[in-house]
Amino acid sequence: MSSKLGWALVTGASSGIGADFASELADRGYDLILTARRRDRLEELKSELTARFSIHVEVLVADLGNPDGAQQLFDKFRVLSLPVRLLVNNAGLGHFGAFHSQSLPDIQSMIQVNLTSLTTLTRLFAEQMAQAGGGYILNVASFSAIQPTPDYAVYSGTKAYVLAFSQALNHGLRSHQVRVCALCPGFFDSEFFDTAGQKPTFLVRMLMLNRRSVARAGIAGVLRGKTLVVPGILYKSLNLLLRFAPRTVATVLADFAVKH
Ligand SMILES: NC(=O)c1ccc[n+]([C@@H]2O[C@H](COP(=O)([O-])OP(=O)(O)OC[C@H]3O[C@@H](n4cnc5c(N)ncnc54)[C@H](OP(=O)(O)O)[C@@H]3O)[C@@H](O)[C@H]2O)c1
Repeated sequence: MSSKLGWALVTGASSGIGADFASELADRGYDLILTARRRDRLEELKSELTARFSIHVEVLVADLGNPDGAQQLFDKFRVLSLPVRLLVNNAGLGHFGAFHSQSLPDIQSMIQVNLTSLTTLTRLFAEQMAQAGGGYILNVASFSAIQPTPDYAVYSGTKAYVLAFSQALNHGLRSHQVRVCALCPGFFDSEFFDTAGQKPTFLVRMLMLNRRSVARAGIAGVLRGKTLVVPGILYKSLNLLLRFAPRTVATVLADFAVKH
């Protein structure tokens, strides 16, 4: 028996904010499909959530850095034959450093996971949701979609795509009762920085948001049909101010924040 709210699928659930999305959704009563590459972490989270909440949890291992990864994940999901009401496209990564000295595999993996696999999953689940009479898709972008950071140039580019894509889809899929929302948070503590090879500076640490509050704001936003969620008063204010600041000045400030 499934919960009344139905099933939610969270990508990148093995660490960071992905685990918070899973906890937040479990707390709200959703049954969950958790996916990432690290099975042990997913099984650990499954045990924790099924002990705390009366929900069902399935684990699917997938590598979204593989060009066929998203389709393979969807194929595994189809075998389960579960209707997904809410998809959280959270899996993502950044690599920090000067663009001209970044390795091509690092650049390609950011584009593959953050952009290509996210688009494929959105396409496959949007069709299923539209046929089932509706659903919700929360795409995790970043504040760098709004304000790009020089040493995160490719990462910022992938997240700007996620923002534009989600905004367009939220309008385009409205008549099919499918709502799509981009979550654009500023910094929060996670393994992101280890993967990126960036030691968070004092300023970055000062600007960090509470991860669970970010996850809660994202879920609440997509369920309310919002197109964009920027959590936290500081980042909300910055979002407004940046509309009036010259782009070069804003980019120099963003560069300063990650280096000092
Ligand atoms: N931390 C921040 O300051 C910040 C700010 C704004 C936005 N974000 C965004 O938030 C999202 C979550 O990041 P996080 O900060 O929570 O970092 P994290 O702790 O490093 O989590 C990243 C998640 O993505 C999964 N992932 C990475 N590569 C994958 C692949 N090839 N295939 C499948 N799954 C993969 C990881 O799982 P496995 O390694 O087990 O596969 C992990 O569960 C990302 O989209 C990130 O861009 C982060």
